[in-house]
Amino acid sequence: MKPLISPSILSANFANLEDDILMINQSEADMFHVDVMDGVFVPNISFGFPIIAAVKNFAKKPLDVHLMITQPERFLKEFKDVGANSITVHYEACPHLHRTIQQIKELGCKASVAVNPHTPVFLLKDILQDLDMVLIMSVNPGFGGQKFIEHTYTKIRELKKMADEINPSLWIEVDGGVSTHNSLALLKAGANVLVAGNAIFSSSDPKHTIAELKNISPD
Ligand code: DX5
Ligand code: ZN
Repeated sequence: MKPLISPSILSANFANLEDDILMINQSEADMFHVDVMDGVFVPNISFGFPIIAAVKNFAKKPLDVHLMITQPERFLKEFKDVGANSITVHYEACPHLHRTIQQIKELGCKASVAVNPHTPVFLLKDILQDLDMVLIMSVNPGFGGQKFIEHTYTKIRELKKMADEINPSLWIEVDGGVSTHNSLALLKAGANVLVAGNAIFSSSDPKHTIAELKNISPD
């Protein structure tokens, strides 16, 4: 099975977002990865509702919204209303994660949980059956263009083993430092959704890089 590719628009050209959105529309990408940062949960601020609504206006593929914000439950409906198709909240930001996940599902969005590099995946055991996707952070969240953390492979393998027992249809997404150099190893470890920002947007031919990521097969 080919992986799903989710280009991160954090690395796009914000002065001409329409061009990059159209490029993703025409590419083999499966969705748009939309990184929301609040300057509290992570040491950076990205963008909010007006930008997401503008992206939605042109995007012909689902929006994969990654919330790097504290208390995300305050804004779930607003993110749905501006066009989110899936919503990822962080394990570390949600004391009542089960409730938050149910709220995301009630809105009709796919529900996903992200774990930071220091958070072990076994902590997801009791929520795994309720999830559509788990996002494994392979860098510390906050910035594009960081170096991939090698321990991620072990975490993906552990999560894949748990998912095979508890929720075999779970999507496993990897986010941070993903490129054509490590994508095959990530897929072999058990990932099936690849987020890439810098690797796509800093390449000389972003559409071609998306095609390369899409067509690297573990089989
Ligand atoms: C990091 C974000 C990522 C980021 C990935 O906090 O969650 O989605 O945009 O960017 P690259 O692929 O450049 O590491
Ligand atoms: Zn992200």
